[in-house]
Amino acid sequence: MDRIFSGIQPTGTPHLGNYLGAIQNWVNLQEKYNSVLYSIMDLHSLTMPKESAVLRQNILDTTAAILACGIDPRKCFLFRQSLMKCTGQNNDGNVGLLTYPVLQAADILLYKSTHVPVGEDQVLHLELAQDIAQHFNKKYGEFFPVPKAILSTTKKIKSLRDPAVKMSKSDPQKLATVNIVDSPEEIVLKFRKAVTDFTSEVTYDPSSRPGVSNLVSIHAAVTGLSIEEVLHQAIGLDTARYKMVVAESVIQKFTPIRNEIKKLQEDKTYLIKVLEAGAEKAKELATPIYQEIRRLVGFQ
Ligand code: TYM
Repeated sequence: MDRIFSGIQPTGTPHLGNYLGAIQNWVNLQEKYNSVLYSIMDLHSLTMPKESAVLRQNILDTTAAILACGIDPRKCFLFRQSLMKCTGQNNDGNVGLLTYPVLQAADILLYKSTHVPVGEDQVLHLELAQDIAQHFNKKYGEFFPVPKAILSTTKKIKSLRDPAVKMSKSDPQKLATVNIVDSPEEIVLKFRKAVTDFTSEVTYDPSSRPGVSNLVSIHAAVTGLSIEEVLHQAIGLDTARYKMVVAESVIQKFTPIRNEIKKLQEDKTYLIKVLEAGAEKAKELATPIYQEIRRLVGFQ
């Protein structure tokens, strides 16, 4: 049986890269598959320690943002990683699980996930999960499906300040990363300052013109048009004017989401309820799998 699993770290509200690389795909996949799990990876976020009050708030903000993007808790299990403890078990091998990619593999395998929609930066992590699944199957018999990555066409959105690197929440350059909750003015400013090159024509060639090509990819992904269609629309525009077209398309996409986030943020009780209900269902799914793993390994 196909099962979708993915997760996001609660680093406040997601950015354009998270949205186009992963969350937009998550929304589509919940319509197509019957078993879908999305998790707020609070344990993973401990690699960059935060004050507990900040982490608590970030978890709720991320949840609000994901729901506002269109994730529907009736169509998937949305839950917090740390709520999903297999209770009643003493966690053998906990030390190993604290290692980031191994923890990530455990997240995926614990539900016998078959597909993992992520951005390109997660592919290596996923390969470890695949290796562990294969290794386990060889030793204990076919048990885990080998999970496959699902990549979006915008699998790597680049920084607006340096198209050689990915857009990232931790980028110290404020103008590099467009956040889902940025105001229209901030979005316009960030695109206006986006680094391109000395050619004014708008073309798509990621290797020789990474800056403008990143804008074209973003434009296509937020409008749902093809690269050819957006290039056609850009005929006659120089890159400076084109940046404003792209900014406008991002504003159009994010304005309703931003409004919905604000609404959801006012209802903490609802957000917590969603996460708890999701954790309950995820636990139900994982517990027999976990017990079977323990039996196969010989812990039980
Ligand atoms: P995180 O929180 O860094 O990112 C969440 C998702 O957004 C994608 N992404 C991007 N996609 C395209 N362009 C970008 N610039 C960009 N930046 C981020 C990421 O690829 C990811 O899909 N380790 C994971 C969280 C995790 C996880 C898991 C994911 C923990 N366990 C199990 C899947 C399955 C992370 O830090 O994602």
